[in-house]
Formats: sequence, structure tokens, C-alpha cells
Amino acid sequence: MRVTINQIQKMKEQGEKIPMLTAYDYATARLIDEMGVPLILVGDSLGMVVLGYESTIPVTLEEMIHHTKAVVRGARKALVVGDMPFMTYHTSVEEALRNAARFIQEGGAQAVKLEGGEIVAEKVQKLVRCGIPVMGHLGFTPQSTFQLGGPRAVGKERESATQLVRDALTLEQAGAFAIVLELVPTPLAGLISQKLKIPTIGIGSGKNCDGQVQVISDILGLSDFVPRHAKRYAHLAETIKKAVGDFVSEVKSGNFPTAKESISMDESILADL
Ligand code: KIV
Repeated sequence: MRVTINQIQKMKEQGEKIPMLTAYDYATARLIDEMGVPLILVGDSLGMVVLGYESTIPVTLEEMIHHTKAVVRGARKALVVGDMPFMTYHTSVEEALRNAARFIQEGGAQAVKLEGGEIVAEKVQKLVRCGIPVMGHLGFTPQSTFQLGGPRAVGKERESATQLVRDALTLEQAGAFAIVLELVPTPLAGLISQKLKIPTIGIGSGKNCDGQVQVISDILGLSDFVPRHAKRYAHLAETIKKAVGDFVSEVKSGNFPTAKESISMDESILADL
């Protein structure tokens, strides 16, 4: 049975922390799912860590749906959240609904995530009323990177902190089932988590959130650059480079393949040819 939004919310009620990871492909989703991670986000970080764009801005809905399908095929238990890319939910409620529905219907996701607070509340409400679970995203919102001047903490000043609390309460009221808090000061993220009934999932927002999300490439040590809020639990880039280097030198030296990796046949047939 696949994890439901009610189960995610129950985890908060029971004081159980919620782990969430991003995935962009079948193989990784399968491994994450096997490890019992209840929430998988097909983040639009796809653009940067998989597709090589400089930001998340160029990511298209088609690209997101393509990768969401692969993740859903790999994740049999986790609740899969599709990240709505830049400008796919801003222009109208109707467009937001149509595009969110594509994530669910074509992509196979069980929920969508969109960035922003009061500004997207009407859209969140419509999606939820139409049966599409929505995860909010507040604090540093990468799709506004040009407006914000790059990744930076949000909510350190009185005005931005007040706005953040208001945005979080508005999203909850609009029907969001959880909210990602990115680069929010730890005490403020804790306060918001206390004020909300729905879970907060932090990234760079300290340990008082109800859950934590990380970009899979960061924790596996696949990215060149590791943000301060990320922790490397493995060094896969080194492992991959070593394996590739060994392969190249064995091919060049003739040490690969050996008989073990090759197919034999009856020598007498060969002699007759
Ligand atoms: O796109 C993404 O990976 C995200 C997470 C960082 C929350 O939005």
C-alpha cells in the first residue's frame, strides 16, 4: 500500500520525524523506496543536478512529467510529489489546475508541490478541492532566485518573518497537506512548525521542522558543490571516477574482458569454418 497524505500528517501528530528525498529516475527511486522513505520529491532541482541547467528556471513541464513517470515506476510505496516548474501555475487558476492534473494523470504522482504563500493560495485551494494534494514551499523559493538575488536565508527580519508566518497559515488554510521550509532561521522554522497542524519539511531550516528533505545528489556526494545545509553521507563521485578509471585502464591494457566475462564455443566448429 502506498503512503497517503493522512499517514504523513499522522507522523507529525505522533511526533515521528518525516524523511523526504528527491529522486529523478527509476533506479534511484527504487533504492530510496526500498529503504522506507515515505516521501519522494521529483524536484525541479532536476534541472540543475541531472539536466545541467544553471537554475531551475528552464525546466519544462514535459521534462518534469517524463522524470516523474520514471520515479513512480521505481517507488512502489512512497508518496511521490511532482514539483510544478516555473510559470506552470502562475498565470491563472485554470492553468495551474490543468498542469497539476497532468502530473497526477500522466506522471502518476500522488501530489504536487508549488512555491509561494498568499500569492498561490487561490490555486492551492482549487487544486485541493479538485482532489489534488498540494505541498507548499516557503522561505527561499528557487524559482524566484533572480528576484531574491540567489540562495539566501528568508525570515531574519521582522517583516519577512511576519510574512512567512502569514504565508504558512494561509497555505494550511488553503488545504496544503505539508509545507517545505527552505533556508528559514531555525527558531522561526520551529515556531511555524508549532503553529501549524500540517507538517513542515525543512531544508536548511534546522532541526525543529517536522521532517527534513535533501537533494539525493547532495547526500550521495555526486554534486560538485554541496550547499552548507547538506550533509554528504557517501562519496559516489569518487567511487564512480575510480570505477571508470579502472575500466579505462583495463580496456587499454587488455585485462578486460577475461574469460569470465566472455562466451566460449566448441573449438572444433571454429576449426571447420
Ligand atoms: O527541487 C527541489 O529539489 C526542491 C527541494 C530542494 C525542496 O524543491
